[in-house]
Amino acid sequence: MNELTSRSPKLLPMSAPMIAPSILSADFACLGDEVAVVGGEEGADWVHVDVMDNHFVPNLTLGLPVVQSLLGHTDIPLDCHLMIDDPARWAPPYAEAGAYNVTFHAEATDDPLAVAKDIHAAGGKAGLAIKPGTAFDPYIEILKSFDTLLIMSVEPGFGGQSFIADVLEKARAARRLVDSGELRLVIEIDGGINADTIEQAAEAGVDCFVAGSAVYNADDPADAVRRLRALAAARQ
Ligand code: DX5
Ligand code: ZN
Repeated sequence: MNELTSRSPKLLPMSAPMIAPSILSADFACLGDEVAVVGGEEGADWVHVDVMDNHFVPNLTLGLPVVQSLLGHTDIPLDCHLMIDDPARWAPPYAEAGAYNVTFHAEATDDPLAVAKDIHAAGGKAGLAIKPGTAFDPYIEILKSFDTLLIMSVEPGFGGQSFIADVLEKARAARRLVDSGELRLVIEIDGGINADTIEQAAEAGVDCFVAGSAVYNADDPADAVRRLRALAAARQ
């Protein structure tokens, strides 16, 4: 165990599938209530917070002040997905603020290991996100220093897009490495996850499923979380 991992106990993939509702599809005027709606028993495992800077992606959402406020309103671990340039500068403060998992994009930095180290030093778990067109294999070695692999199944930037099934090959490859003990991380998928797509992602070995529109556009978001988890659990 190296210095980095000894300071940062790894997340073990849980036996039950994890559901992480994305508040990108929630009502931004009352985010505290929107997060509370998916909480409780059998509720969300993580709340997924999409941070966009209008540079790395062509959309602008929210940033650190909103995350700080949310942390005061919920006990559900926040899973911050930073779709931003310069994660070396901006990612560690999310961990310092108390975000549970801080994920940044492999495409946004030349030194992902240094960013992971700074997130760990700030007390957070570190995640590496890869866009649909980004290969998984070149990152296998450095992923030994990460707690989460976020496989994007849409182009980052907007909710409500269609699932890109081709990325499941990356989930299968990651699952094999986790099962063999070579990697020890949570395999997360993000984009287009709903009742029609979650089963194939579960079969591919995904541990944690982000769902934005499928949860927050549902009549009963808490029930949508339970239904998605049950669908995934039946295929894992
Ligand atoms: C897209 C975001 C996703 C998005 C998912 O850039 O990273 O988290 O909110 O939304 P749905 O589930 O609607 O595809
Ligand atoms: Zn996301």
